[in-house]
Amino acid sequence: MRQLIAGNWKMNGLLAEAEALAEDVAAGAEGLSCDLLVCPPATVICTVADVVAGAPFAPVAIGGQDCHAAASGAHTGDLSAAMLRDAGATWVILGHSERRTDHAETDSVVHAKVLAAVAAGLTPIVCVGETEAERLDGRQEAVVGAQLAGSLPVDFAGVVAYEPVWAIGTGRTPTEADVAAMHAFIRAALLRHLGEAGRLVLILYGGSVKPSNAAALLALPEVGGALVGGASLVAADFLAIARAAQAA
Ligand code: 13P
Repeated sequence: MRQLIAGNWKMNGLLAEAEALAEDVAAGAEGLSCDLLVCPPATVICTVADVVAGAPFAPVAIGGQDCHAAASGAHTGDLSAAMLRDAGATWVILGHSERRTDHAETDSVVHAKVLAAVAAGLTPIVCVGETEAERLDGRQEAVVGAQLAGSLPVDFAGVVAYEPVWAIGTGRTPTEADVAAMHAFIRAALLRHLGEAGRLVLILYGGSVKPSNAAALLALPEVGGALVGGASLVAADFLAIARAAQAA
């Protein structure tokens, strides 16, 4: 399976910046053997979709960063999965640790959002990962196992991203052995939860991925790609990570 390199722009990017970044990413996407995805703020999805549609080379897919579990209704400030689809997204990140922390999202909320995303034609990327305290206690597998069991429907056919909370935006990453061990654990959990279909789910690594560590991380067994935050805001860095995927 091709690796997926996904950029989570988080709450960054006014229209002009987003347009320029999307243009640079699209212009550098030629000849990559991985799939590329950018997840901009919802306000610029239409703009990024226009840029990508006009690019001459390999398509760059577009995703949202969250959606509501309901299809429509009285939910001020929220966006439905169908709205993201309508704007040009075909993917959505769900259950990111920043959503779990900032908006108290539980596994059952994430589960409901996965169902809503799939119903609207979006492929979900479900994020899981332990805090530093949980890892220091040796509870990382229990935490991630519970997040997977609680967040994924039994017919889940999306992508999982393992993002240790303490590695996000800190410049710190787990050891290669720890990443490999967690990805093996997640694969086993997916097979238990989903049966043979669990073999087809890509498992991305996220947390301080940058050009200097991408090749080593992407070469690890069961690492199906990367979910990149800060480095995805610099087209040259994001594309360098994508080229590391190609070589993996
Ligand atoms: P950083 O790459 O900035 O650590 O962010 C990772 C992340 O949260 C991607 O979703």
